[in-house]
Amino acid sequence: MKRYVILISGRGSNMEALLDAALPGLCAAVISNRPDAAGLAAAASRGVGAVAIDHRGFASREAFDAALAAEIERHAADLVLLAGFMRGLTDSFVHRYAGRLMNIHPSLLPAFPGIRTHARALEAGVRLHGCSVHFVTPALDGGPIVAQAAVPVLAGDDEASLGRRVLDEEHRLFPRVARWFLEERLHLVGARVQLAGETAVGGALHVPHAL
Ligand code: GAR
Repeated sequence: MKRYVILISGRGSNMEALLDAALPGLCAAVISNRPDAAGLAAAASRGVGAVAIDHRGFASREAFDAALAAEIERHAADLVLLAGFMRGLTDSFVHRYAGRLMNIHPSLLPAFPGIRTHARALEAGVRLHGCSVHFVTPALDGGPIVAQAAVPVLAGDDEASLGRRVLDEEHRLFPRVARWFLEERLHLVGARVQLAGETAVGGALHVPHAL
């Protein structure tokens, strides 16, 4: 059975969705760079080892990433899932876990990398927003996209309401993608990701929709 670890920095709702999805793998640990992350208690309450490695205790990014990698190695993880892990990783860490490091990001990449994605989507006036799961490369939120979920931007939306609608989809998307990885159905072909057994679905979402 494949082993995975989840890295968090805060609330951990995506982590909870992953743990509750009964994935075909073993969650060996949840690791946070912040000792006060609420998600640590949620992991422990599900019987998963919860570890805090406080980044403030390290003199450099390299030193923190080395400690993080050592902890991941201790759990012999095949897959590392960034679920609201809000800390930049060094290139050497990213290279070490190339092809087995995935992140969920709250936008339809390559639109709105970085932070404040819902506010920026509203400012830009987009009609469709959403979330993306991608393999991590050194480029910020720039690696090969595995899957995306789109939601409409509604007339009365503010940052909170739009963010909630996206978060609901994050909770569906990330476990689905993690399952595909654990089932060995994902293959990187150049910059694109192929899913074994993918079925073509046509149609389109038109927003706004009026007859
Ligand atoms: C999620 O919306 C996730 O997509 C985002 O942080 C939130 C964490 O919430 N991640 C990023 O912005 C990474 N660039 P959670 O702790 O409840 O899962």
